[in-house]
This record gives sequence, structure tokens and C-alpha cells, in this order.
Amino acid sequence: APSDPDLVERARAAKRRLGDRVFVLGHHYQRDEVIQFADVTGDSFKLARDAAARPEAEYIVFCGVHFMAESADILTSDAQQVILPDLAAGCSMADMATAEQVAECWDVLTDAGVADRTVPVSYMNSSADIKAFTGAHGGTICTSSNARRALEWAYGQAEKVLFLPDQHLGRNTAVRELGFSLEDCVVYNPHRPNGGLTPEQLRDARLILWRGHCSVHGRFSLDSVRDVRERIPGVNVLVHPECRHEVVAAADHVGSTEHIIRTLDAAPAGSAWAVGTELNLVRRLSRAHQDKQVVFLDRTVCFCSTMNRIDLPHLVWALESLADGRVVNRIQVDAETEANAKLALERMLALP
Ligand code: 13P
Ligand code: SF4
Repeated sequence: APSDPDLVERARAAKRRLGDRVFVLGHHYQRDEVIQFADVTGDSFKLARDAAARPEAEYIVFCGVHFMAESADILTSDAQQVILPDLAAGCSMADMATAEQVAECWDVLTDAGVADRTVPVSYMNSSADIKAFTGAHGGTICTSSNARRALEWAYGQAEKVLFLPDQHLGRNTAVRELGFSLEDCVVYNPHRPNGGLTPEQLRDARLILWRGHCSVHGRFSLDSVRDVRERIPGVNVLVHPECRHEVVAAADHVGSTEHIIRTLDAAPAGSAWAVGTELNLVRRLSRAHQDKQVVFLDRTVCFCSTMNRIDLPHLVWALESLADGRVVNRIQVDAETEANAKLALERMLALP
């Protein structure tokens, strides 16, 4: 549906009043009505870098989810304030690993005698607490666009990796890009005693995957791929590495949101594509590539509900409040957490 013209005008006016004092970041999964006001759009890696590259902006308005705003706060100066237009915009995957659970897991690894041979690698989609744990234990953060390099770096540091919280990104990267077998990986379930693993399993594993997943990408199935191949002969299946291993194995191309965008830009006219990632992005890609057929991989999967909480009314409210001198919904990570989390984020930014 087209955006409410009154709200569009109010958002424009508030941005004009703020001028260079505000910088609006928009993740690729945001609604159309919101993304039109982003000064820059990107995946979580690009946005983390772009936030850090705007030291003159007093306010960073982050149109994305909570962990992204936390990362922006960690990477920007203390003088800059990061605003999340709706505090309820979280991420179900990030919520699957709490600081207590991860500390308990490390105790299990310690008891099995493997902790000193293990380095943590945490996906960007995690809370600042988890990033701080990672930094304090010599590990790095990764995103879907640098997971391979992060794992290669980590295996240069230690024999084993604890990958959290997305088991699929960890498994897909290790198997597809590092040549691991599925047997090299075990899954640590935080809801079971000792993660549901024996000390022997922990000793034999090369990759310990946290039992977390994305509630959107995790819903694409092998049937989604089979059905679309039947419906559209010759279709290219292009999916995000947060999808399950069997989906990724059945797809033709796999990559982060930035990779998906670049792949479609380079695709020849007349080609057909079924894309397995968030629906707001797929719809925009479908509109942008009228010379190609771009469809959603599975019509029963829906938007990321937390990404969609950032809507135009929330954005207008945040911008107008800032223009009136009221700072609302600031995301601020405490100093100690920030220091350790920053270590882990800076290791990621320094990856080759
Ligand atoms: P990227 O932006 O790294 O592709 O991650 C996808 C995602 O699920 C963000 O929430
Ligand atoms: Fe989290 Fe998945 Fe939504 Fe990204 S798409 S914010 S990983 S639930």
C-alpha cells in the first residue's frame, strides 16, 4: 500500500529540520515506507561500517532491529546517540542465546576439557552481551557476508569453534566453504543438560553449533525448492545462508542479502529467480528487475515481524522528537559490555 502522504511529508520535514545532525540507516528487510527515508541501506555488515563512518551525525536512527542498533552504538563515539524507532523491534534468533546460557555452555566445554582449544565466533545477530562474551574469549563476530573468513581466522587461533547463535549459518559455511562434513559438527542445545552432548562428542567435534535459527529463513523447506522448480522450469534458486542445510544444498546460489542483490543485478534479462530471504527485500527486487522474473521462494513464508515493527508512524515519531530536542528510544550499551564487544567487532572489521 502507498505510504500515508501526510506522514511522508512529516518525515521529510523532520529530516530537513535535523539536516546533517541525523543519519538514517535502513536494513534491506525494512518496509518500503521506511526504506525511502534511509540515507544508506545495507546488510548488517555494511550498516555497522556505515554507522562508524559518520562521526559528524549526532543521531543515528537505526531502521533495523535491536542487535543492529546495539552494534552501531558500540562502533560509534560516545557523543553519538543511536535511536531505534520501536524498542520492540528485536530478533527471535538473537533471543535464542542469553548471556547465562552461553556462560553455562562455556562451563560445559571447560568440564569436557575443550574450552581452551575452542574460540567463539558469534553472528552479528546476537545481543551485545554475547558479543562481549565473544570478545572476552578471544573470538570474533561475523555476518553472512564474511562468515567464511571469520571461520578461517578462528581455525587459525584454535582447533574448535563454538558458533552462535545461528546453527544454519555456521553449518552451511563450514560444509560448503571449508569442506567440513556434517559429522564434524555437533549441536549444543541450551535447554538440555550439558547441551545434550557427551564429553566425547565435544572432544570429537570441530564445530560446536548453538541451537538457534532465524524464524523467517528457517521456514523455507526442501518442498519450497521442489515446488518452485516444478512451477517455473529453469528457475535459479537463490537463498540466504540462514536457511536450513538441505535447502541451501538444493539451491543454485547462496549468499548474504548484499550478495543476493548483486547476483540479481548481474543476471541476464529473461532469467527466472526464486529468492529465499525476507519478503520486503524480495518484493523490491522483483519490482526493480522488470526484465527478469523474480519470485518469493515460498508464498507461505511471511515478513520478519520484528523488522516490520519499524513503520512510518514510529519513524516520524522518532524524527520529530529529535527535531524538537527530545531524545527517544536511545540504545546504549554499558561501558564494560561495550569494551569487550568492541574487541570482537573490531576483529571482524579487521578480517582480510
Ligand atoms: P544480513 O543483513 O547479514 O544478510 O543478515 C540477514 C538478517 O537476518 C538480518 O536480520
Ligand atoms: Fe532475526 Fe531472522 Fe528477523 Fe533477521 S530476519 S531480524 S535473523 S528473525
